[in-house]
Amino acid sequence: MSEPFRGVLIGCGFFAKNHMHGWADADGAEIVAVCDLDEAKAKAMAAEFGIARTYTDAAAMFAAEKPDFADVATTVESHRPLVELSLANGAATICQKPFAETFADAKAMVDAAARAGKPLFVHENFRWQLPLIALRDALASGAIGRPTYARLSFRHGYDVYANQPYLAKTPRFALMDVGIHLYDTVRFLLGDAADIHCRTQSLKPGIAGEDAFVATLRHDSGVVSTIECSFFSKIVPDPFPQTLAWIEGDAGTLELTGDYRLRLHKDGTVTETDVEPEIPAWGDRPWHAVQDSVAAFERHVVDVLRGNAEPQPSGAHNLETLAMGLASYQSAETGSTVDLDRYMEESAR
Ligand SMILES: NC(=O)c1ccc[n+]([C@@H]2O[C@H](COP(=O)([O-])OP(=O)(O)OC[C@H]3O[C@@H](n4cnc5c(N)ncnc54)[C@H](O)[C@@H]3O)[C@@H](O)[C@H]2O)c1
Repeated sequence: MSEPFRGVLIGCGFFAKNHMHGWADADGAEIVAVCDLDEAKAKAMAAEFGIARTYTDAAAMFAAEKPDFADVATTVESHRPLVELSLANGAATICQKPFAETFADAKAMVDAAARAGKPLFVHENFRWQLPLIALRDALASGAIGRPTYARLSFRHGYDVYANQPYLAKTPRFALMDVGIHLYDTVRFLLGDAADIHCRTQSLKPGIAGEDAFVATLRHDSGVVSTIECSFFSKIVPDPFPQTLAWIEGDAGTLELTGDYRLRLHKDGTVTETDVEPEIPAWGDRPWHAVQDSVAAFERHVVDVLRGNAEPQPSGAHNLETLAMGLASYQSAETGSTVDLDRYMEESAR
């Protein structure tokens, strides 16, 4: 057995705990040090996971630890400096979503990865969720023939603000928080989009940004999809954090329901498969599908470090996903449909 890859974690906040559990379970990788600007958070994370060394300065951590990879689990405003620092220190780098606040920042990180010759991943765990993988596999098997229409829906009323209070204060919320997950997912399922039209709503009293949106996409393949998200829906039982899906094709329809069932409507009958992931030993409802996907994504990172796979998704791939999120704001502000190639060309200037 070769030595495990040595990793460091930057950002010991709410979601990073899932990262740490995933790394603890992953064969072939080991977190050797953790860092947070808040020393108490770094120390608490280190104590919980038996990590020997903590830092409050990421640069000092890179200098001392010389890690093979770095897992950046901070919020978006710190992504670019931390990712550039990591790559400059020769570490394969994972960046939590949203990748960046601007297309220019995202492009700079992708360029830095190319210069460093190191893999750059965006932690897009939705495409690593078992129900969505089962849906993609069913599509790829030709179960519904040629896809024509899709709807992805992430509507709920779960109190996300309890764990992530910053979400209530950010002027760009639903699209940047969950929208980009859904855009990555629809690209994963149905390929790239050519254009996008979006409407946003700000529903919860006192919220700074949009907490709901509906977007319509035209894909290069001709598929039309609607992507919808709401943090202000009163639903019993609340489906959070599931992505529900409805995809029609010329030979059938695939449906992903709120109780983790994949249903195939075909030839006058419906067949149903249970696609619920197991609850990890360290996990809990309703987060288990997300937690399972974090662990799956991290196993994939190890595969890439071993040279057996390409990042899913890479920073370069995620540029277009981010552009879809940013273009959605432009569409909502102007009431127009945004051509994504043109949007990216203009944003790259
Ligand atoms: N993929 C998912 O399913 C998922 C779910 C939840 C959150 N997230 C993402 O994870 C990221 C973190 O979210 P969170 O809710 O855990 O945030 P958080 O605010 O709880 O934690 C972020 C931590 O990073 C630290 N930090 C910030 N800048 C730093 C720096 N320069 N050096 C060291 N530490 C620094 C902060 O002190 C804080 O402890 C966000 O980008 C969020 O969108 C992803």
